[in-house]
Amino acid sequence: MADGRTAAGPRSSRPGGSLDGPLDGGAPPGAPGDIADPSLADSGSARIEWAERAMPVLHLLQERFAAERPFAGLTIAACLNVTAETAILVRTLRAGGASVALAASNPLSTQDDVAAALALRHGIAVFARAGVDRPTYYSHIARALDTAPDLVVDDGCDLVNTLHTQRPDLLPGVRGGCESTATGVIRLRRMAAEGALKFPVVAVNDTATRRLVDSTFGTGQSVLDGILRATNTLLAGKTVVVAGFGPSGRGVAERARGLGAEVIVTEIDPVRALDAVLCGYRVLPMAEAAAAGHVFITVTGSTDVIGAEHLAVMRDGAILANAGHFDVEIDVRALADMAVAVRHDLRPHVDSFDLPDGRRLLLLAEGRVVNLVAAEGHPAQAMDLSFGVQALALAWLAGHAAKLAPDVHEVPASIDAEAARLELAAIGIHIDVLTPAQSAYLESWRIGS
Ligand SMILES: NC(=O)c1ccc[n+]([C@@H]2O[C@H](COP(=O)([O-])OP(=O)(O)OC[C@H]3O[C@@H](n4cnc5c(N)ncnc54)[C@H](O)[C@@H]3O)[C@@H](O)[C@H]2O)c1
Repeated sequence: MADGRTAAGPRSSRPGGSLDGPLDGGAPPGAPGDIADPSLADSGSARIEWAERAMPVLHLLQERFAAERPFAGLTIAACLNVTAETAILVRTLRAGGASVALAASNPLSTQDDVAAALALRHGIAVFARAGVDRPTYYSHIARALDTAPDLVVDDGCDLVNTLHTQRPDLLPGVRGGCESTATGVIRLRRMAAEGALKFPVVAVNDTATRRLVDSTFGTGQSVLDGILRATNTLLAGKTVVVAGFGPSGRGVAERARGLGAEVIVTEIDPVRALDAVLCGYRVLPMAEAAAAGHVFITVTGSTDVIGAEHLAVMRDGAILANAGHFDVEIDVRALADMAVAVRHDLRPHVDSFDLPDGRRLLLLAEGRVVNLVAAEGHPAQAMDLSFGVQALALAWLAGHAAKLAPDVHEVPASIDAEAARLELAAIGIHIDVLTPAQSAYLESWRIGS
């Protein structure tokens, strides 16, 4: 980002991030990397400590991994949003014996203070600065790959893509990887279908726990959080148009309705559209919704969902936000071409595009993931379960990758269930267990009604 704005959240005013903080063990402090400002390490440590309080599953896994060392001697290259929650995941992998290199999966989402704390206090090689341009973003991924990883963790498939296209020399050394987003899984499936994928990848995004807790509840809350922080608008009585009714769009729609908005859903999938209708939402094509909405939120994983023809009929003051993985869902270029003037100085993360007919359209976070740019991403508790599945899946992959074909694989159901069990235990919820008679009944086809 050219004007140097960073992801929202507290920043340290105290200078001098020191090199003498506690380490997880192993790596030297100040591991090689590229971070914005070492003096932010104190603020980053506080932010990480705060997140850790809401991440009991990863805490339990740190203890387990420290005993079992599933990653002993392995190097993991991770491309993730550099947030406090990611810091806890990285420390969990370190506890299991891994060397970790971390690059940002989004040029705008990096919490610079967390990056500083990870590099200076935990000896992680971090390649992440908020607001870097595209070449720097990819150079950071390239530097994480320079560590010649045994395992990779990706969030959008940019690291796996770069590995296959720019560094094929490293492919033989990679045992496998994990992918955390819907968008990344789609890209990986295309690679696998074309025979281009050279190692097994586990689709962490596709687990039931992640869909529910991360996509629906985490995205739902944090996207509204980002829009409200950026604009301070009153949603009650407004019309919010949600494009895409996948697990994430569903969460956004539910939270917007909970704040008193009328919600219109746009979809291209008939089953999802029907689902939205039965949930009580108005379902319209974007061509009709465009004129009706006060706030537009794209969550599709697709491209050009809001184009020039929609921008042309939107009301004055309409707010445009994207929550999909890439910044291609709102045609920002078309908006810029239509505008006679653009104001960047009204509020952080809000650009006002003045159109020739006097209307002003407000674009949030430059069309990038609004919850990560204008707020702090998912609440830590939502990420705890998601990253718990990620850590368990990686440990499983470290031991099983040799038996897996170079394809996209589901996370074993037992891992999903285990992560949910750990979370329930952590929040003190007990559930029933099958009696022997119930198990026998469910397992037998001989027992009738
Ligand atoms: N911001 C975040 O923190 C966050 C969190 C989770 C997922 N995501 C991203 O959000 C996107 C959606 O995730 P999901 O898990 O719900 O995925 P999904 O693929 O299950 O759902 C996307 C939905 O959008 C619909 N769609 C596709 N093109 C459309 C179009 N042109 N108009 C209207 N609807 C359209 C699809 O039919 C589908 O129902 C992905 O890009 C994902 O990576 C972001």
